[in-house]
Amino acid sequence: MPLTPELHAHFVHILRSQIGPITKGRIFVALAEDAGIRLGSGRQNGKTATVAAFAKSLRLNPRTVRWWLRALRDLADDSELLDAVEREMLPIKTALRLKRSREKDALCTVTDEDRAVAAATWGVTCSDLRDFLPQLHGEAHLIYTDLPYTKDALPLCGELARLSKPALTPGGTLALMTRLPMRDVLNVMCPWLPHWATIAYICHGRDAAHFWPTGLWSFWKPIYLFGHRKDGLVGDVVFSAGKEKSLHPHQQDVPGHRTIISRLTLPTDLVVDPACGSGTSGEATLREGRRFLGNDIKPENARISRARLAALTGRAVGGDVELGARRGNTAHPMSRRVRTRAPQALSS
Ligand SMILES: C[S@@+](CC[C@H](N)C(=O)[O-])C[C@H]1O[C@@H](n2cnc3c(N)ncnc32)[C@H](O)[C@@H]1O
Repeated sequence: MPLTPELHAHFVHILRSQIGPITKGRIFVALAEDAGIRLGSGRQNGKTATVAAFAKSLRLNPRTVRWWLRALRDLADDSELLDAVEREMLPIKTALRLKRSREKDALCTVTDEDRAVAAATWGVTCSDLRDFLPQLHGEAHLIYTDLPYTKDALPLCGELARLSKPALTPGGTLALMTRLPMRDVLNVMCPWLPHWATIAYICHGRDAAHFWPTGLWSFWKPIYLFGHRKDGLVGDVVFSAGKEKSLHPHQQDVPGHRTIISRLTLPTDLVVDPACGSGTSGEATLREGRRFLGNDIKPENARISRARLAALTGRAVGGDVELGARRGNTAHPMSRRVRTRAPQALSS
């Protein structure tokens, strides 16, 4: 039943009075509906109006009205926050920020189930990365590796970028830790994937520093990030926990790698290290509830990695890992702010 002019005037009066913003938002929407107005961009056919135009016709501030409507829409499934905004105990902006941060926390929190999936699905193969990477077809959310730092490994960096491109999910990242000269690394890798950020990996203490022939002691290493920019990356400095060299002369530390992996991926994402050495990235990945696929050209290193991950998960695996089909949700979850579908198991 349409509102009488008196009732309409009454509701407009309510909109300007001391009631909660959520109720005001609801009355605003009801008034628009009653007038047969579909609130939108104003570009559709039929009786439409922009929020601003309709708000102005009621002599309301369009900016304020937009905040009411955002609160109504974005807080709809959170009755606690909705109630706090309605009682004006919480400004709308703060409530929306809280909601976003709660969603992000839920998305990034590693559950026991995530760890169980990771523990049940890892694999380590032994081959040249140039043979290994072509077996992946858009499944890897993160390809992270630490190739040898010798000059003759530079062409391999280019090959890594070339072969990672089709192996990554559409929003995936290639991350390379290396001490090779920055200009050379970017020259060989950027033709294949765009470089979008560099993480500084801080190595504590004199022992961990790198001594350059020029006399410079370097206390950090770059990790170059290629592929698609992520809005979920919260910082570009990561601290190493110190030297860990019990399994391999070039072994990295687990805590620092857990930070890298947790910043660049979400639980149950697939992390691939095509030159995994002693399997540090594997241990960090599984501890963070992500799935892991490792590979190394040296049988001895593949064996060390397998033994390490088997000890961690209580699951001994064979050599070759057969990859499941491409996952349905291929956009990068960081930017979509949604948890990805349950992962396909990697058969051992
Ligand atoms: C710096 S180490 C990695 C160390 C590892 N991050 C760790 O924590 O133990 C580099 C690794 O790359 C491997 N590698 C070198 N060339 C390779 C290639 N073409 N394909 C696959 N792995 C390769 C080496 O065998 C070595 O284990």
